[in-house]
Amino acid sequence: MSEAKKLAAEKAIQYVEDNMIVGVGTGSTVAYFIDALAAWKDRIQGAVSSSEQSTARLQAHGIDVIDLNAAGPLSLYVDGADECDPDKCLIKGGGAALTREKIIAEASERFICIVDPSKQVPVLGKFPLPVEVIPMARSLVARKLLELTGGQPVWRDGVITDNGNVILDIHNLAITDPVAMERAINQIPGVVSVGLFARRPADVVIVGGQPPLVL
Ligand code: A5P
Repeated sequence: MSEAKKLAAEKAIQYVEDNMIVGVGTGSTVAYFIDALAAWKDRIQGAVSSSEQSTARLQAHGIDVIDLNAAGPLSLYVDGADECDPDKCLIKGGGAALTREKIIAEASERFICIVDPSKQVPVLGKFPLPVEVIPMARSLVARKLLELTGGQPVWRDGVITDNGNVILDIHNLAITDPVAMERAINQIPGVVSVGLFARRPADVVIVGGQPPLVL
């Protein structure tokens, strides 16, 4: 699948324009995008990064990393996903970067999602749904998620997010109404964010292949 990820990432470069500040996600697919973006480093102003991991890779290529507060609204955000449905709604957060990813997606006019074909699903939920939670609320939120979704929340033991929080992954879901589920989970006190990108889905999905499919 790594060849498909690379092909999707390289196709996304066609959305980059001179002078842009590019929003950059996190993960193995985005790593290929960052590598391709290196050729643009003197033509763009820089990048807003969604994780320490992506920041390190951007900086290793000599690409300036700019604070989102200084950058203002972005015209382009490129990121991967763990699952993608036919409406371009996504599950994200397998790499624990969901909150910053959601913030940058919201700040961006255009969200290009780059995936390999294994990420395409008819209904979201086979991939456990990540929820970032304030540590003291972990048990409370787990009980509420069980009640609300019927899925099984599992603490991603040992993982602390870049924001100092923990992750609960909800297993065994079939998310038939992603917008409603995103809204409901967001209401639970202690939830920082949920890795459902339904209220703000991707605008374009690029599925890596020969040639890549642009949806
Ligand atoms: C990071 O938190 C995630 O949202 C990633 O975008 C997602 O897990 C996709 O990762 P890969 O590109 O490594 O499959």
